[in-house]
Amino acid sequence: MEYTPPGRMRTVEDFVERWHAIGDDLGADIELQGAAGPLGRSVELCGRRVGNRFAIHPMEGWDAAADGAPSEHTLRRWHNFGRSGAALIWGGEAFAVQEDGRANPGQLFLNPARDVTTDLEALRAQVIAGRDEMELAGEPYVLGLQLTHSGRFARPTAEGPAPRIVHHHPVLAARYGIDPELPLLTDIELDAIGENFVAAAKVAQRTGYDFVDVKCCHGYLLHELLGAHTRPGAYGGSFENRTRLFRRIVEAIGATCPGLEVACRVSICDLHPFAPDPKTRIGTVAGWDAHLPYRYGFGVDPSDPRRPDFEEPRRFLALLQELGIRMVNLSVGSPYYNPHVQRPATYPPSDGYLPPEDPLHGVAFHVRAVRACRGAAPDLITVGSGYSYLQEWLPQVAQYEVRKGHVDIVGLGRMVLSYPDFPADVLAGRPLRRKAICRTFSDCTTAPRHGLISGCYPLDDHYAALPEATRVADIKKKLRPS
Ligand SMILES: Cc1cc2nc3c(=O)[nH]c(=O)nc-3n(C[C@H](O)[C@H](O)[C@H](O)COP(=O)(O)O)c2cc1C
Repeated sequence: MEYTPPGRMRTVEDFVERWHAIGDDLGADIELQGAAGPLGRSVELCGRRVGNRFAIHPMEGWDAAADGAPSEHTLRRWHNFGRSGAALIWGGEAFAVQEDGRANPGQLFLNPARDVTTDLEALRAQVIAGRDEMELAGEPYVLGLQLTHSGRFARPTAEGPAPRIVHHHPVLAARYGIDPELPLLTDIELDAIGENFVAAAKVAQRTGYDFVDVKCCHGYLLHELLGAHTRPGAYGGSFENRTRLFRRIVEAIGATCPGLEVACRVSICDLHPFAPDPKTRIGTVAGWDAHLPYRYGFGVDPSDPRRPDFEEPRRFLALLQELGIRMVNLSVGSPYYNPHVQRPATYPPSDGYLPPEDPLHGVAFHVRAVRACRGAAPDLITVGSGYSYLQEWLPQVAQYEVRKGHVDIVGLGRMVLSYPDFPADVLAGRPLRRKAICRTFSDCTTAPRHGLISGCYPLDDHYAALPEATRVADIKKKLRPS
């Protein structure tokens, strides 16, 4: 089944008609107001009044050196984050707090054998240089560093996956061939990982970052722990136990790094993993009822894991507020096991499946998840995700959601890879450069799934000119049904 992508909808009215057909609760502003409208309204972040409602999500490139040093590609990406004009640079990219917690051999990490301070300074300098280039030097902005441990999805070397799991997940174990006897990370090992989050936060603070994001999303360690209902001991079972390590990390950072803000990017709900149907390649949740009640996710209905359940996610947001956290970035699910929702796309990544529904439903899922949860913690500044698939009509939906008070800040992920200055153009009221708009080809996900650096191969000349571009094209050709 083919779905008309937003870029093929010629007028805003055509888009709005389709958007309303997805749900009559969904809206978009017909008239854009640029910086004079809701997207240009100032907001206080990290004690600073910043002048717009765009964030750049963390976007990694799988392109650091084996010892964690940023490469020219990493530096260029952060430069582009600066050029975007977004007032909030949420995390830059996932920075692993220890080597075995890397999701790939090209991930930045806290390498005790390197002067990581110099690396983080160099990345920050690129953001500043990008902003200078756009004549934004005098305008306040906020920069954070996203701290992570990849847990089940750890793959620190080219040898392949080296999962560190916190509970046994029957569906993912079968999917990834994980030995049912694989020992869980012990509580003591989790405590040590927690200490490394704090160590990394100290370096971030020393280097001038305004906040750190204690990452709880996309199936990585702290996200998986939120759903560890079956784990025995102090870090599993009850909500209190499943949030214990996160709480300890946040409190320890607060105690050791006074003045550094802590924020959290969280997959606010999970869904049962999807897999391609063997005949059609369309994503399905076949067998979803084989493990009921479902005890293997966070914010998912135990009686029907195809649906979210926002009771615990709302409790989690209230907990963030209690802990003194002021900013949250809401994502959903995981790029590994339900990419059609986590990053809605016309073209699936090589390890994905054909969309089981119009990808606009995935965008709507994000929008609705934010709306459903944020009332639980009204003081939190909330960043929304999953907007890039909207393409030409992203500004209309973004302005509507902010104007209505459904979300405070709109985050951009894939769009910033192909069109870094997208926010600057929207705020200035300039027409969008259609050739730069992300068309969700998913090369930025397919490439790293095959050990290649990530980037926008189809639309960014920098990547199109690399030898890797030919390899990505070959990989895609092989995947095409004959
Ligand atoms: C190439 C690539 C790298 C990403 N890296 C990160 C990351 O380091 N940390 C993170 O939290 N999310 C990461 N994401 C997820 C994005 O931040 C974002 O949630 C997702 O792309 C959906 O937003 P979008 O529709 O604007 O692209 C990545 C996504 C892609 C495609």
